[in-house]
Amino acid sequence: MGQIAFKRLSALDRAAPVLRKARLAVAAAWLCWLATAPALAAGDVQRGHELARRWCTGCHVVDPSGEGPDAAPPFPAIAQRHGADHSWVHGWLTAPHPPMPNFNLTRQEIDDVIAYLDSLSPR
Ligand code: HEC
Repeated sequence: MGQIAFKRLSALDRAAPVLRKARLAVAAAWLCWLATAPALAAGDVQRGHELARRWCTGCHVVDPSGEGPDAAPPFPAIAQRHGADHSWVHGWLTAPHPPMPNFNLTRQEIDDVIAYLDSLSPR
């Protein structure tokens, strides 16, 4: 009896370093995932386009065709001006800017709109 219990214990003891390594591997994988997560969560051009059509066409020309109101700078012009500067557009869309309504877009929605803007800027 005591012998078996002892054997079990020593088997666990031997397994311990392996378990520690496994935990380390999981932690490393998790850190890698954290590092790449922003890239994976990048905006979706299609969704950004739909969102812009729904919320922004009241004042902005949203499509490259250039049809629409001229109450505000057209999206292709915005893309040209700020295309590479994502944080600027991000800031613009998170802070209220009358007369532009405050849309309370989620981070994902903002990323989507930025991805759409990106798709408009010439490279
Ligand atoms: C009620 C009208 C209105 C709506 C709707 C609107 N905007 Fe605007 N937007 C404006 C006006 C007016 C400006 C120019 C403000 C200024 O220059 O001070 C502007 C400016 C901007 C700018 C900065 C342009 C620049 O280069 O200075 C961005 C980016 C922008 N809008 C994005 C959006 C997005 C994205 C949406 C939809 C989610 C949207 N807007 C909806 C009126 C609107």
